[in-house]
Amino acid sequence: MKYFFLAYAIIAALFIGLMPMRGGKSPDAPIRLFPDMDEQDKIKPQKPSEFFADGQGARQPVHGTQALGLNPEGLKEIGGIPEQEFGGGTGHLATGGIDDYFANGMPEALGLTTENVGAFLKRGEEVFNVNCAICHGKSGDGQGMTGHFGVPGIANLTQDTYAQATYPDGRLFYVISEGKGNMGPYKHNIALRDRWAVVAYIRALQLARKAPYDAVKDAFDKGIAAQAP
Ligand code: HEC
Repeated sequence: MKYFFLAYAIIAALFIGLMPMRGGKSPDAPIRLFPDMDEQDKIKPQKPSEFFADGQGARQPVHGTQALGLNPEGLKEIGGIPEQEFGGGTGHLATGGIDDYFANGMPEALGLTTENVGAFLKRGEEVFNVNCAICHGKSGDGQGMTGHFGVPGIANLTQDTYAQATYPDGRLFYVISEGKGNMGPYKHNIALRDRWAVVAYIRALQLARKAPYDAVKDAFDKGIAAQAP
């Protein structure tokens, strides 16, 4: 017991003796058991920095920097396409619907003619392959890459369910614009005209599935011959 009181007194004396050291200034970083990223090589807002020649921590935007969606003339466009082509709107062209119904056929406002429809379809192919093929597959059969990594229930667009008679063009346009289930909306990424081009291209993919062998025999044989070793 005697030793216990002695040890207690020594520890107490040491403790009290160290107390006045608190608050002493030291140039060293404090010892931290849990650093919590308190010390970092970063520049705090409005602080100077020796790293830059002018000693200023906050930097100006790089010369020629342009805010997304704005061009210097004040015209609002994204990649050369007027901003209003992305997002909402009313009428057949912007929604795919006429009154309360989804419409079949391409809107007149697209100005499609027998001359330009080929390029329109080509554009649809390009946009489809960039945006949709990763899930729906290049042929639209729903066997895209993401399915193999676990995205469930990807629609097979070549099924009869999505044929024009049961699934109007306007509804295709609407689903592309607004999304459905695990599929996100594309109205902010794909311009209006390009979304219609994708609708047309999906119809082409569906037709390609149904074409009678005789109609495609020559092209098919040519393709097989080209692949032969
Ligand atoms: C991230 C993967 C993914 C991408 C990319 C994607 N989709 Fe889908 N899509 C889905 C899934 C999943 C469904 C099933 C949604 C459901 O029924 O809940 C679907 C359904 C659909 C449907 C059928 C909707 C219905 O009413 O049953 C259409 C049409 C469609 N997608 C078209 C497209 C087009 C066109 C593109 C490209 C612009 C596209 N999708 C891009 C995953 C995707």
